[in-house]
Amino acid sequence: MSGKTYQVDCVVGARPNFMKIAPILHALKRAGGFSTRLIHTGQHYDVQMNSVFFDELGIPEPDLNLEVGSGTQTQQTARVMMGMEDALEAQRPDMLLVVGDVNSTVAATLVAAKLHIPVAHVEAGLRSFDRTMPEEINRLVTDRLSDLLLTTERAAVDQLVREGVEPGSVHFVGNVMIDTLRAKLDEATPVAETVAAYDESGRFASRAEHGYGFVTLHRPSNVDKPDQLRSLVEAIADISHDLPLVFTIHPRTRTRIDAAGLWPLFETDAILTTPPLGYLDMLGIMQDARLAITDSGGVQEETTALGVPCLTVRDNTERPITITEGTNTLVGSDADALRAAAAQALGGESKAGRIPEFWDGRAAERIVQIVRGFLDQRAMS
Ligand code: UD1
Repeated sequence: MSGKTYQVDCVVGARPNFMKIAPILHALKRAGGFSTRLIHTGQHYDVQMNSVFFDELGIPEPDLNLEVGSGTQTQQTARVMMGMEDALEAQRPDMLLVVGDVNSTVAATLVAAKLHIPVAHVEAGLRSFDRTMPEEINRLVTDRLSDLLLTTERAAVDQLVREGVEPGSVHFVGNVMIDTLRAKLDEATPVAETVAAYDESGRFASRAEHGYGFVTLHRPSNVDKPDQLRSLVEAIADISHDLPLVFTIHPRTRTRIDAAGLWPLFETDAILTTPPLGYLDMLGIMQDARLAITDSGGVQEETTALGVPCLTVRDNTERPITITEGTNTLVGSDADALRAAAAQALGGESKAGRIPEFWDGRAAERIVQIVRGFLDQRAMS
């Protein structure tokens, strides 16, 4: 080990980044020999999408907030790039570390690459092979430009090698999101408490006495088109007759439900709608659920780690291990297919799954070792 202290800038922007960066920041601090600067792009800004996670996960206040806010894909990406260029030029780090696949991830990577600052990408090599997803473009570009590619599953290593990446730069480290899940499971909010906070009449709680499921939907492909959103909400209302459902509603989805006038479909005691929940509340809901219905990447992984059957309302997934080893089933985006899959799962035909390799709570430690090795080697050359 060299005696040098390395500065590693860590970037976060949107909700799924926070549970990934937390264990890495903690592990860098524990390891010693690193100074970190946490840069928040401001892509997500509402308390429920943002600061609640900092509090619950013990993430320090960001050193810098670029306050980019919402916008089109291009506006958001461009604003992050401009802010990142100023930040990296004002104080040049030894390495930039980015996580996931959101617009902030690709924007920060582009800037660092042009400033010849090495980039480590955590959650590299995932591919949905669907370039209509903004995240797929973000993944492709981020991986192409990164110097260290850190993967959550072995298939991602193979994918990167197929794409011509130098194999020595790819490392299978496991899943940092599951580091956080394992660290926080004991602190999860009891589900009854979370339900009580939103279920004023208490009628949902009595319906859900013998079990419940939960729903999250926010992908543009599911929520931005009113007809698609309506048909999915109708299916969810039908499924709730057999299994009461907690539906946590993302801001994007809320706006679309408002615009399409779909709130009447939610007027049933069998669906409890909530705003976006904090991490500990969500963890409590997830761990005791009988079924998840989602289009989130993170929830596909978290339900696999918790052994909860998951129906993914998408035609593809960039996280194949949740299908091959985990509890995930791809349902597609058709409402009838969702009804059929839910009936099957509730009829006892759900996947048991097993915990994938290296989803063991120690991914961040492996990342820190690899980052140090990379920087030591660079310092010597
Ligand atoms: C982004 C990520 C997606 C991730 C999701 C998790 C990209 C391309 N997409 O999608 O991969 O799964 O975050 O949430 O980066 N809004 C608020 N408050 C906020 C943030 C957003 O009300 O704090 C509203 C705004 O109306 C905004 C909309 O939500 O226009 C969408 O936000 P945006 O960051 O563009 O994308 P997400 O759909 O959240």
